[in-house]
Amino acid sequence: MEQNRKGDVTILAVETSCDETAASVVRNGREVLSNVIYTQIADHTRYGGVVPEIASRRHIEKINQVIEEALSQAGMSLRELSAIAVTYGPGLVGALLVGVSAAKAISFATGVPLVGIHHISGHISANYIEYPELEPPFVCLVASGGHSHLVVVRDYGEYEIIGRTRDDAAGEAFDKVARAIGLGYPGGPKIDRLSKEGNPDAIAFPRAKIVDNAYDFSFSGLKSAVLNYLNGCKMKGETVCQADVAASFQKAVTDVLVEHSLHAVQEYGYDKFAIAGGVASNSSLRAAFGQECAKAGIRFYHPSPVYCTDNAAMIGVAGYYEYRKGIRHGYDLNAVPNLQL
Ligand code: KG4
Ligand code: ZN
Repeated sequence: MEQNRKGDVTILAVETSCDETAASVVRNGREVLSNVIYTQIADHTRYGGVVPEIASRRHIEKINQVIEEALSQAGMSLRELSAIAVTYGPGLVGALLVGVSAAKAISFATGVPLVGIHHISGHISANYIEYPELEPPFVCLVASGGHSHLVVVRDYGEYEIIGRTRDDAAGEAFDKVARAIGLGYPGGPKIDRLSKEGNPDAIAFPRAKIVDNAYDFSFSGLKSAVLNYLNGCKMKGETVCQADVAASFQKAVTDVLVEHSLHAVQEYGYDKFAIAGGVASNSSLRAAFGQECAKAGIRFYHPSPVYCTDNAAMIGVAGYYEYRKGIRHGYDLNAVPNLQL
């Protein structure tokens, strides 16, 4: 049985912004005592993507069980907690509301303080789990299903967004291209796997440059280029090599993310670079960043895949730093689907 030591800050974290029902107990911002994730992938696969109404219902069915499991694995009782941290945006409103309501109910019943957390702040904070020596400032690329941001992390919980996508997020492009080549949902991991059998130089897909901000991204042109290529093959009666399309698309995304990110790290004069979000678990992206950062003398931080995709441990880490700053939320905390960083 884990016991709280005097002075420990122990946080129960809850995350339900999309299709993962997750709870975790984190001690002193860096030590994950439990990390329970109920993934709804099987519930959404036959629809080809996340159905918000189904996501909310599954969260309601699973939330209590997931929270109980997280506490039990950590050997913690509700009374021992210092705070409850919960994602309150951005995300699907109905999904967010389940986590926010559960966290508020526990806080109300126990008197344990409530701390609302921004989902992207959580993704970035995932880097602190496995790198105890990592401290701000550093540059972080956040690439998830809904976001592609280049962020300067000035301090814990203090962010300056220096680049963002003008259209699709990187993960969204992975999901759409996967659907177009018939791989289905969830696209990112499937393209990652199939690409290992393909030639990344087989098809020359475009790498978009944004004229007025070198750190911004655009992935919709790349997505259209893949669709046009597939249509062209169909019209000509040519067979499509799925693995080559996947590998060439993945290389195009990787090239753009790596080039823009390294440019930002160097221009801003930092020597530390981190990645975060579901796309950060991509094997080709991790390998490319590893190589290029080594060449440029930049320290490269990359959370294990389980801390890249949605989880509550990252919310517990971000929650610790907010708690330490004295941030507390009232029972009027609401879900904010388009919450800004
Ligand atoms: O961070 P995340 O779990 O949820 C959001 O906050 O959006 O990111 C999910 C996104 C999806 O678009 C998924 O296809 C993508 O991350 N993803 C990947 C990989 N694993 C997940 N993309 C590329 N390669 C992967 N291995
Ligand atoms: Zn996420």
